[in-house]
Amino acid sequence: MLEKAMNNILQNKRILIVGGSSGIGLAVAKQACTAGGKLIIASRNAAEKHNDLVAAVGHDIETYSFDMTSENETATALKKIGNIDHLVITARPEITPALFVETDFKQAKQAFETKFWGQYQLIQKAQGHISQHGSIVMTTGIAGEKIFKNFSTMAIINSATEVLCRQLAMELAPIRVNIVSPGFVAPKSQAVEKYAQQFPSGKIALPEEVADAYVYLMANPYTTGISVVIDGGARLI
Ligand SMILES: NC(=O)c1ccc[n+]([C@@H]2O[C@H](COP(=O)([O-])OP(=O)(O)OC[C@H]3O[C@@H](n4cnc5c(N)ncnc54)[C@H](OP(=O)(O)O)[C@@H]3O)[C@@H](O)[C@H]2O)c1
Repeated sequence: MLEKAMNNILQNKRILIVGGSSGIGLAVAKQACTAGGKLIIASRNAAEKHNDLVAAVGHDIETYSFDMTSENETATALKKIGNIDHLVITARPEITPALFVETDFKQAKQAFETKFWGQYQLIQKAQGHISQHGSIVMTTGIAGEKIFKNFSTMAIINSATEVLCRQLAMELAPIRVNIVSPGFVAPKSQAVEKYAQQFPSGKIALPEEVADAYVYLMANPYTTGISVVIDGGARLI
């Protein structure tokens, strides 16, 4: 039903999803295609997986490989990609959940480098490529709003990303800038499963249960500077 309602709301819009080769980003790609979008999936290895990604999305798509933490790779790829209507960023850093005192400092810094500075740099470099009628949808995560033991690194990265979103909504207007804040999303891991059982939803989310929030934020012309939280009630416990 929702799928039917979404038909054509992104008709012929060029949408770049950085981090679109798996998980939430791939689910956004599928739904945005269903909504009529022309999809470009990018990640460090997306071009190498082109055929698999076309099969997974079920539509013709473009793919590009670049590391969004690399200034040169990002600039070169954006030049090849050209103009877009919407930029979605769902790249995920590697971080092992751990208590603050046991967190590997180098890994924590690298995670910040990927998720915070990666989004920052990509958005800066994408200016001039994004339509003035278009939008940017960033990704944070519930750990930015609610404090869970073992998730200090993501808490810091996500809360900094939330502030960046609101700042950019002011400075980049009329381009709209919004954010999706997922709770815990499949695939399951023991660390998150334990928490999710206590949520009102009683479970972690499927990527597609989060993905339609991105489509909504791209399509709704009056949303900017907001965060859509899809967390199964995680904040309430
Ligand atoms: N899964 C969850 O439970 C959860 C919860 C809260 C928030 N989130 C957030 O939601 C977003 C998506 O998470 P996910 O679990 O769906 O991720 P995922 O399945 O692990 O996918 C991550 C994507 O990011 C790409 N990527 C990683 N580093 C990159 C880089 N430096 N440059 C370009 N692409 C890069 C990966 O492809 P390559 O390996 O080819 O680069 C892949 O396409 C992330 O921001 C994550 O922090 C997730």
